[in-house]
Amino acid sequence: MKGIFITFEGVEGSGKTTQIDLLASALEAEGLQVVKTQEPGGTKIGAMIRKILLDPKNKEIGSMTELMLYGANRAQHIKEVILPAIREGRIVLCDRFSDSTIAYQGYGRALSLEIIGKLDIFATEGLKPSLTILLDINPEKGLFRAKKRMEENNSLKEGRIEREGLSFHKRVREGFLRLAEEEPDRIKVIGADLPVEDIHKKIIEIVKERFQWH
Ligand code: TMP
Repeated sequence: MKGIFITFEGVEGSGKTTQIDLLASALEAEGLQVVKTQEPGGTKIGAMIRKILLDPKNKEIGSMTELMLYGANRAQHIKEVILPAIREGRIVLCDRFSDSTIAYQGYGRALSLEIIGKLDIFATEGLKPSLTILLDINPEKGLFRAKKRMEENNSLKEGRIEREGLSFHKRVREGFLRLAEEEPDRIKVIGADLPVEDIHKKIIEIVKERFQWH
């Protein structure tokens, strides 16, 4: 397994971060070199863009501005982190990528999927993940989990997009599931209701099969 790009997607509270950490540990235990990263974020510039995007005080951000900020974040992230890591033969595990833009800005905000697609090609120069794990959960449950986690950490506040209503998050989930139907070879759907360890085992099976890793 060398120079591989794997992304994790799902609505809020679907458990992506936990599963990325578990997969990274499993791969590292096999002596493989892993880079964990996230969008929005992933670079110094990305951290600044993330702040703008998630700050609930920034109510005036328009949908198109939001779309372009995610695109700007991605362009920088690919150039500075993702491509260099792939070239060095590392396994990149990325928390959210282009599918999130289609699901949130396309299905959630109802921006044109055609414009999103064009902007994404521009931002990514066509880079696509080799594999995407979609952790699927009912948004009611996911948002409840995300809120609980915030209370436990008692430092984080709810992000600007997390605050959207349930119908927004339901559209986002439908968007993700539609993408998985369109690209069944790349996007593998796992029910995020299962116990953490069971989800991890399923992910390991998928990664082993896909990349002939033993
Ligand atoms: P996170 O909480 O999983 O780190 O994601 C931050 C938020 O950004 C989350 O509410 C989903 C949203 N998002 C988009 O709306 N479009 C995108 O392209 C990405 C990457 C994230």
